[in-house]
Amino acid sequence: TQDQKESMFLVSKFAAEWMQSQLKTEMGKAIGYSYFKERGFTDETIQYFQLGYSPDQWSAFTDAAIKAGYQLEFLEKTGLTIVKEQKQFDRFKGRVMFPIRSLSGRVLGFGGRILTNEKKAAKYLNSPQSDIYDKSKVLYGIYEAKQSIAKEDLCYLVEGYTDVIQLHQAGVKNVVSSSGTALTKEQIRLIQRLTKNITVLYDGDAAGMRAAIRGIDLILEAGLNVRICTFPEGEDPDSFAKAHTQTEIEDFLKANSVDFISFKSNLLKQEAAGDPIKKAEMIRDIVQSIAKVPDDISREIYVRESAAILDIGEDVLFSSLAQNRNAGI
Ligand code: CTP
Ligand code: MN
Ligand code: MN
Ligand code: MN
Ligand code: MN
Repeated sequence: TQDQKESMFLVSKFAAEWMQSQLKTEMGKAIGYSYFKERGFTDETIQYFQLGYSPDQWSAFTDAAIKAGYQLEFLEKTGLTIVKEQKQFDRFKGRVMFPIRSLSGRVLGFGGRILTNEKKAAKYLNSPQSDIYDKSKVLYGIYEAKQSIAKEDLCYLVEGYTDVIQLHQAGVKNVVSSSGTALTKEQIRLIQRLTKNITVLYDGDAAGMRAAIRGIDLILEAGLNVRICTFPEGEDPDSFAKAHTQTEIEDFLKANSVDFISFKSNLLKQEAAGDPIKKAEMIRDIVQSIAKVPDDISREIYVRESAAILDIGEDVLFSSLAQNRNAGI
């Protein structure tokens, strides 16, 4: 019910504030705060994104919340507390915390990162699905970015929490993250309210490349313009932004963003060089993407562009496109 959701919002707000305050305790300062400092985050950034720390004790947070009058029922429903054999455990114990906020700024859930790079636990742990948190419907950073997205009439889409934060700190503020999950229609709709232009900035690794490719068709289908900017191998927007000034970042983004036709065509040239079967497959793939574009004129422009880049006849592409659209793709 609405009352229950309200209680979940309230306990989430308390959690964000309490975990934020932990950065000031002796332990939290030595562990959580210094972690963020090492990543290059300023005090202002830490404050702005309401970053926090969940102490490495079994139930420090849960105990504090109950003492402050919050009910276990809602601690459990938001996933902040795990109840097992009538004992209570903090889900995020020992992690640095990234609160995930709605468009209007309410805390919906959390991402929590382990402090080491050892692989003994998942690097990030996220709030479970709940009545207030649906990972397919939220974008990390949307609250902080919404004004800049509208003003710049452009939204950068990145993979991770720290990519959003580091770019924001560097002065590139029109940026949100799908938090490692495959982009969804609902997330695109959220962006669509602010701009028609999305530039995808995914990690410079195989996973990032695959994720970028998957995201493209969904963005095209929504009738938005999509550009793609790839990062050097092994870099992500966070590491890149940390090492460069705002001007350098903006120049890099400008110089390396390409529209989806060039992006896919270049992939094709690299991967299908000298392999006609593979080449034909990839041309079909590009045509399938173009077929998803709802606007007739944009589709036609894309066909001409890809024909030129791929050096094949426009008529071939147009007839292939017609087949795709008739097939209802
Ligand atoms: N992610 C997750 N669970 C994991 C790994 C990743 O939820 N076990 C999500 C997080 O939202 C993360 C994003 O996927 O931010 C991108 O993953 P990755 O590139 O591996 O992490 P980074 O954001 O680069 O994290 P960091 O720089 O802290 O290592
Ligand atoms: Mn990655
Ligand atoms: Mn990354
Ligand atoms: Mn990273
Ligand atoms: Mn450089």
